[in-house]
Amino acid sequence: MSSILEVRDIHTFIGQFHILEGVSVSVTTGGITVLLGRNGAGKTTTLRSIIGLTPPARGSIHFDGKPIQGRQSHNIAQLGIGYVPEHRAIFRSLSVRENLQLAERRSGDFARKADFIFDLFPDLKRLIELPGGNLSGGQQQMLAVARALVPENRLLLIDEPSEGLAPVIIEQLIAAIQRLSSQVSVLLVEQNFRVASKLAQSYVIIDEGHSVAAGAMADLVQDKALIQRYLGVA
Ligand SMILES: Nc1ncnc2c1ncn2[C@@H]1O[C@H](COP(=O)(O)OP(=O)(O)O)[C@@H](O)[C@H]1O
Ligand SMILES: [Mg+2]
Repeated sequence: MSSILEVRDIHTFIGQFHILEGVSVSVTTGGITVLLGRNGAGKTTTLRSIIGLTPPARGSIHFDGKPIQGRQSHNIAQLGIGYVPEHRAIFRSLSVRENLQLAERRSGDFARKADFIFDLFPDLKRLIELPGGNLSGGQQQMLAVARALVPENRLLLIDEPSEGLAPVIIEQLIAAIQRLSSQVSVLLVEQNFRVASKLAQSYVIIDEGHSVAAGAMADLVQDKALIQRYLGVA
């Protein structure tokens, strides 16, 4: 199986703080990999390092076989990597339509992807003229993911999409991410272990800035000791 993303032993500093001290992550083409770990472990910093917002000082990142570390963030995005940050970063005063149009990388992207997006998120079609700020938390999260689907992306980095959402909305989101992964590979940060185990085929556990375990999700769900040690859930 080939990897669309190969992160090897990256070290990232924020100011003087050595935040990532050796993180390696691999995402199989067409697969979903989940980053697990406690609060403050370095999951968000890993995504931000990949997309170039906190560029790693050491280590390598290959996308589609080509090195991308050291490039500008917009340059990395242009290669076909979408980033959905924590906390539903959408434009609250702009309509759903405007939010989607502004996500275009090339003119016409939205028109090309509209059917696919509205098929995944039918609510967004219904709410298309409403301001983003009027949407429920779940709808805003769907809009945030939909924005990353507007340009021709081959990999999505999605940070804690289920955070703060009601169980029924989380189920809808799981179904949508499952379906979109037939078109685009996904690296997901997910604190909710049940959600993570439903979605991902592979996992990487990050602890105190290090990747400490990785493998098949099917093996992790059996490994209660590993889950207890690093995630603190039974
Ligand atoms: N801007 C920053 N300045 C200083 N420390 C930071 C900054 N951003 C994150 N950190 C620290 O880096 C560590 C990893 O943070 P983060 O990647 O956000 O963790 P996670 O997403 O796993 O919760 C934490 O200890 C956090 O306090
Ligand atoms: Mg985080």
